[in-house]
Amino acid sequence: MAKQQIGVIGLAVMGKNLALNIADHGFSLAVYNRSGIKTDNLLKESDGRDIIGAYSLEELVDALEVPRRIILMVKAGEAVDDAISRLVPLLSPGDLIMDGGNSHYLDTIRRSKMLEEKGIYYLGTGISGGEEGALKGPAIMPGGSLSAYRLLEPVLDKISAKVGNEGCSTYIGPDGSGHFVKMVHNGIEYAVMQLIAEAYFILKNVIGLSNEEMHEVFKDWNEGELNGYLVALTADIFTKRDEASGRHLVDLILDSAGQKGTGKWTIQASLDLGVPVPTIAAAVYERVMSSMKEERMQAQFLLKGPAKPDNKSRDFTEAVGRALYSGIICAYAQGFALMTKASAEYGWSLSLKDIAGIFRGGCIIRAQLLNHIMSAYDRNNELANLITDGYFTNVLTQYQAELRMVIKTAISAGLSVPALSSALSYYDSYRSGVLPTNLIQAQRDYFGAHTYRRIDKEGIFHTQW
Ligand code: 6PG
Repeated sequence: MAKQQIGVIGLAVMGKNLALNIADHGFSLAVYNRSGIKTDNLLKESDGRDIIGAYSLEELVDALEVPRRIILMVKAGEAVDDAISRLVPLLSPGDLIMDGGNSHYLDTIRRSKMLEEKGIYYLGTGISGGEEGALKGPAIMPGGSLSAYRLLEPVLDKISAKVGNEGCSTYIGPDGSGHFVKMVHNGIEYAVMQLIAEAYFILKNVIGLSNEEMHEVFKDWNEGELNGYLVALTADIFTKRDEASGRHLVDLILDSAGQKGTGKWTIQASLDLGVPVPTIAAAVYERVMSSMKEERMQAQFLLKGPAKPDNKSRDFTEAVGRALYSGIICAYAQGFALMTKASAEYGWSLSLKDIAGIFRGGCIIRAQLLNHIMSAYDRNNELANLITDGYFTNVLTQYQAELRMVIKTAISAGLSVPALSSALSYYDSYRSGVLPTNLIQAQRDYFGAHTYRRIDKEGIFHTQW
């Protein structure tokens, strides 16, 4: 019997949709899920596609052509280690396992090493685009050895999203690089979502826009420089009504945000690598703050805010849009700076231009801004920080006054805008030739003899303060 080309393990929504996408591009599949019901359901839906079900890992491995190519779409963490340890005894050198979940990049580095010692190829692959992306074309970030990548390249190229003729899948680099890049993608995603939420809050509370007006504003924004998937879906959200009450659904949703950890990992990695990503951090902390609903409900009666300021007119909307765009630029700049440092630290030789290129389609942070990011790396692929590229420098120079004014307005109104303000502080710190850290050095030396360097002489100094 002819063997199947690709195996997929894990048929929850992402795995199922990715399997259908692969089959739609003419590949034959064998699929396996721990509980057979999901396998049966997929087979029922498979509709003439070349997919067979396997009800044990042995059966799956047996159904595949050699070298076997198996895609794991199981929950990040233990489930991945578990699947790998059950698969390894069934595989032969030259076979490949791809992990398509949101795994931590350090786990991927560990797993690649362990499998490579056994001669099994491993590809830690970030996949972005949610359910719909998995089915219709996600952005794909494969990391591993080049030989591992070559084994799946034709499949990944075909199933990825397309921007014009270009596919949104590219070889990222060795071991954990694919999952690192996906993690940073998610960190940027958190930051952009928080920035948008702050803009919404300002429009709602300072200008008093209705949801219908909010829809119009975000729709307009999506037609200009703010164009991007997250802005577009936000515009859409304001049109949705709750069927039972007829009210806008967004107004009925509890303001307590969930998170699965990739934003937190981004901050942890940024601390380990010594790269500031304050807007991403602000976004993660604000989700945490939002989840403390009960405490906030009590504190609102205890802690006073400012007197209600005067409302702003509709003209102010434009300034909010510019502030938002500035914040978004700083968020991408932080994420790309983090990738730059990781690339050097881990010897990954990341092509930031190509990464920006594949982020343009299929993924959650796709946005027109990425074309400017690509051009920036085209002009200078050694760019230390995106905001020093001419395009971004111009935008920020032009918009910074409005960013300040919008933040001032929000602060005077007592609205919390941690992402916008951290973006501005990032901009201000980065452009400051002199920071007040001379004083911190003096304090460190004062209480702990930690020493300091001077601006007028070489050497290391300590003072009896
Ligand atoms: C994507 C998304 C995806 C997932 C987020 C949600 O790129 O397709 O980022 O990976 O939806 O991880 O994360 P939170 O639940 O942490 O918001």
